[in-house]
Amino acid sequence: MEFAEAVRRRRMVRRFASDRAVNRTQIAAILDLATQAPSAGFSQGWHFLVLDDVASRDAFWVATAGARPPDAWLDGMRTAPVLIIPLSDKSAYLRRYAAPDKAASTSATPAAGDDQGQWPSPYWDIDTGMASVIALLAAVDQGLAGCFFGIPAVRLPAVRTVFAIPERLTPIGIMAIGYEADYVPSKPARSRKPLDDVVTWGGFS
Ligand SMILES: Cc1cc2nc3c(=O)[nH]c(=O)nc-3n(C[C@H](O)[C@H](O)[C@H](O)COP(=O)(O)O)c2cc1C
Repeated sequence: MEFAEAVRRRRMVRRFASDRAVNRTQIAAILDLATQAPSAGFSQGWHFLVLDDVASRDAFWVATAGARPPDAWLDGMRTAPVLIIPLSDKSAYLRRYAAPDKAASTSATPAAGDDQGQWPSPYWDIDTGMASVIALLAAVDQGLAGCFFGIPAVRLPAVRTVFAIPERLTPIGIMAIGYEADYVPSKPARSRKPLDDVVTWGGFS
């Protein structure tokens, strides 16, 4: 598939074919491409938790849905045969940016705890997001589909506990991956912003 076609074909898909499995070779190929993403200082502060069996997927939905009554969104998303939680690792940046070569060449100084320090934005989350979008495109390239969605902040502790996620790793969301169900998606309520609305050439003045 041509790159531009994969980019334009990608849409968040929220219902998957329940009779079509996705194997670990496919998932590994997707994540192998995801880890080609750029990362600040080549820190590669990402990790991917793959939930590809019924028990772990159910555990995720129990941890995140809580007492929420089933609805069309949840019914659809629960058909995903694979869930991948992209985890960002700030500690990788603290280590990398404290290294002699990096410390000498950058103004970004490591800060402990939740402090973002001198980093202009949380590179660990950015880089993990960059890897995630490559994963979504790699899925499309394989004839698969996916949806990136958020885990409600109030549910994060339960997700951490149920999968024993180490403290240094932070879920930035989750990706559902599978073959798209044969259904007619609803027409999007919003359209893409025209390029002129989101691009400024040469300055805002
Ligand atoms: C950071 C992020 C969080 C998102 N959270 C959700 C979500 O919680 N639930 C959902 O159904 N879609 C979620 N989406 C998908 C967006 O709704 C979707 O990307 C957007 O509507 C554009 O549609 P498209 O990706 O199909 O082109 C999220 C996307 C991103 C990038």
